[in-house]
Amino acid sequence: MKVAVVEGDGIGPEVIPVARRVLEAIRPDFEFFPVEVGYGKWARTGCACDADDIAALKSADTILFGAITTPPDPDYLSILLRIRHELDLYANVRPVRGEGFDILIIRENTEGLYSGIEWREEDRACTVRVITVKGSRRIARFAAERAQRREGHLTIGNKANVLKSDVLFREICIEEATDAGVKWDAAFIDALTLDVLMHPAQYDVIVTTNLFGDILSDAAGYLVGGLGLLPSANIGDRHALFEPVHGSAPDIAGTDRANPIAAVRSSAMLLDYAGDREGAVRIETAIRDVLARGIRTPDMGGRAGTRTFGDALWQALQAQKQP
Ligand code: NAI
Ligand code: MG
Repeated sequence: MKVAVVEGDGIGPEVIPVARRVLEAIRPDFEFFPVEVGYGKWARTGCACDADDIAALKSADTILFGAITTPPDPDYLSILLRIRHELDLYANVRPVRGEGFDILIIRENTEGLYSGIEWREEDRACTVRVITVKGSRRIARFAAERAQRREGHLTIGNKANVLKSDVLFREICIEEATDAGVKWDAAFIDALTLDVLMHPAQYDVIVTTNLFGDILSDAAGYLVGGLGLLPSANIGDRHALFEPVHGSAPDIAGTDRANPIAAVRSSAMLLDYAGDREGAVRIETAIRDVLARGIRTPDMGGRAGTRTFGDALWQALQAQKQP
């Protein structure tokens, strides 16, 4: 398995080495190679991500990705959006698990309000919200299949009461859920977001459009104690990229305060994708063991640094190997 590693900016170069070391401990057979994209590269070379970088990412079996800071360039197109488009990573999978709840947020990742079709006029700016039959069908099918596998329930997050584009999205999700024989309901995204926070145990798989999924998944961080804990997978038919939900957190970058759990859990999702379910479970067990010893980063009320937490995690994994 060839893994491209993009550390990125801000806390990326602090949390990704922890995740990579965990992967190396479990899978010494994996081959890692670095790819540099992001603000740091832009500041040095004037280009945040070039065609060679995209080619390098495409050459990998999977990608482990930190986070990147948005460069201060008015004509700049989000690098992550570009990567998601070029690699056609259409399904953004964001699990949110805690005491008594296990939610899988599945966000359409290539269209909607992040279609990239936008322009500025004298007295207004426009962004086109594109919802296609093809785009909706493949994400609906992906989500229905996940719900089916979990013998669960599919909630379709939408705003069809206001947006015609979501009437289409909802319609196709209902078709796919019905075809898959999955129980479903549809809910308006604003009320749904509050209800997920108030009654998380009532939710299983939630499918929604791009921006709504972005907001819903960050808000769901409230259920688990913050953004430092949430992993994600960006999955397409040929490529897959794993990254924490959080960004580059410039406010704490370089201070050894970042929580590496989101990045480490993203590497567990990578293992799961690679078919190594056992490895993914080992990672979650090691995280639980370290937290049980009271070792926590400041966002979780502790005093451990990123590196100390990483060392403890690595030791917990080594301890698992002993008979
Ligand atoms: P952010 O997620 O970087 O930070 C939000 C807040 O959460 C900050 O107070 C930060 O300190 C805290 N936080 C985030 N991750 C943490 C961790 N692992 N441990 C402890 N605390 C953590 O979002 P923000 O501030 O809106 O964006 C900062 C930069 O990141 C921007 O340039 C933005 O464009 C970029 N960004 C990049 C993403 C990506 O590459 N996937 C995703 C989201 C934002
Ligand atoms: Mg976000």
